[in-house]
Amino acid sequence: MLTDLQQQPADALLALIKLHNADPRADKIDLGVGVYKTAEGGTPVFRSIKAAERKLAAEQDTKAYLGPEGDMGFVTALMPYIFGKDSPDMGGRIEGMQTPGGTGSLRLALGMVKRAGYKRVIVGKPSWPNHNQICADLGLGVAEFNHAKADGTTDMDALRGAIASAEEGDAILLHGCCHNPTGIDYSHAEWDEIAGLLANSKLLPIIDLAYQGLGMGMEEDAYGLRRVLVAVPEALIAYSCDKNFGLYRDRVGALYAMVADPADLTKVMSNGHSLARANWSQPPDHGAAAVRLVLEDAALTADWLAELDEMRDRMRQVRAKLAAAGKTGGVDLSPIGGQNGLFSIIPFTPEQVQAMRSEYGIYFAGSGRINVAGLTMGNIDQFIAAVADVTA
Ligand code: LMR
Repeated sequence: MLTDLQQQPADALLALIKLHNADPRADKIDLGVGVYKTAEGGTPVFRSIKAAERKLAAEQDTKAYLGPEGDMGFVTALMPYIFGKDSPDMGGRIEGMQTPGGTGSLRLALGMVKRAGYKRVIVGKPSWPNHNQICADLGLGVAEFNHAKADGTTDMDALRGAIASAEEGDAILLHGCCHNPTGIDYSHAEWDEIAGLLANSKLLPIIDLAYQGLGMGMEEDAYGLRRVLVAVPEALIAYSCDKNFGLYRDRVGALYAMVADPADLTKVMSNGHSLARANWSQPPDHGAAAVRLVLEDAALTADWLAELDEMRDRMRQVRAKLAAAGKTGGVDLSPIGGQNGLFSIIPFTPEQVQAMRSEYGIYFAGSGRINVAGLTMGNIDQFIAAVADVTA
C-alpha cells in the first residue's frame, strides 16, 4: 500500500530556498543553493541566451520529438569546449547525448555503470550530496576518501590510497573543476599524477564537469578532464550547462562516453538511450536549443564567453575580499581566496550555522558551504561581521 511508504526528509539544500524566502528580514543573505548572482544580487538570464531564445521563438517551426538523445547539434557543438578543438571526439572515441541537467547526466552515467556490472563508486568526502544519493538509489556501493585537508589543500595521499586499494568492479567519480562543496581543486601537477594513477588502475573514471568556465576559464577548467582522457581507455563525462549558461530551471546537460575502440560506441550509447527512455523518455528541448544557437553564432559565442569572464571576475573579487579578512572570530577566511567556483566551506559548527540563520538571516548549507556569489560589495561586510561574532 502507498501508506507503507516512509516519510522522506526534504532535500536539505533545496529546502534552504524556502527557508530564505520565508525570512521577512530585508537584510537577509542567501548563500545556499548554487546559483550565480550579479553584484546587484540578481540571477538574470544571460544576454546571449536571451538573444538565442528570441531567435528560437522566431525560427523554430516544430516541437515534434527528437528522440532519447535529444538535440545532437547541441551535444556536438559543446564538444570542442569540453574535449578541445584539436580532437573534439578523440578520433571517433567519444559520443554524447543530451540530458536534463547535470543530475540527468549523472543518473545515466551511474545507471550505465550499474548495468556494466560495476559494484562500487569511489567518491571524495565531502562531495555534492546527490552523488551518494543517486548511487544509493541505484544500489551502487560508495567508498569514500578524504578530499581536502584542514589547511585547505587537496588530500592527495587519501586519493592515492583510494586508487591503490580499489577493487575489481570499482568506478571513481571526480569533480573536473570548481569542487562542490569545498572549492578546492586539484592543481595541474596533481591532475597529471591522477591521470597516471588511473591509467595504471582498472578504475572507470566518471568526471562530473558542472562548472566549466566558473573557475579559471573554459580551457583551464578542462585541464584535468583532458589529462585523464588521454591516459585511460574508457570514461564517462557528466556535463552541466545549468551554471555556465545560467539555465538552471531549464535543465540542460549532456552525458559523454569515451571508449577504446570506436566500434563499441554505438552499443555503449544505446544503453544511455534506453536508460533515458525508461527515466524521462526524451530531454526537454528549449534550453539545449538555446545553447546550440549561441554556439552556432560567433557573435553570441563571444558575448557568452564575455559574460562568463564577468562572472569569474566578480567571484574572484568576492573571494579576495573574504580572504583579506583573514582570521575572523574563530575561523580563517584566507584559504577562500585560492579556491574556485561558487563554493567554499567555512568550518562552522551546526550551532553556528543555526545562529547565522536565526540571528543574522544568513542562509547556507548545514555543511558550512557558502555560495560566494551570494555576497556583494553591499553585504559582504555584514557577512564578515556576523562570522566574527558567531565564531568568536
Ligand atoms: C548546488 O550544489 O547547490 C547545485 O548543484 C544545485 C543542486 O541541484 O544541488
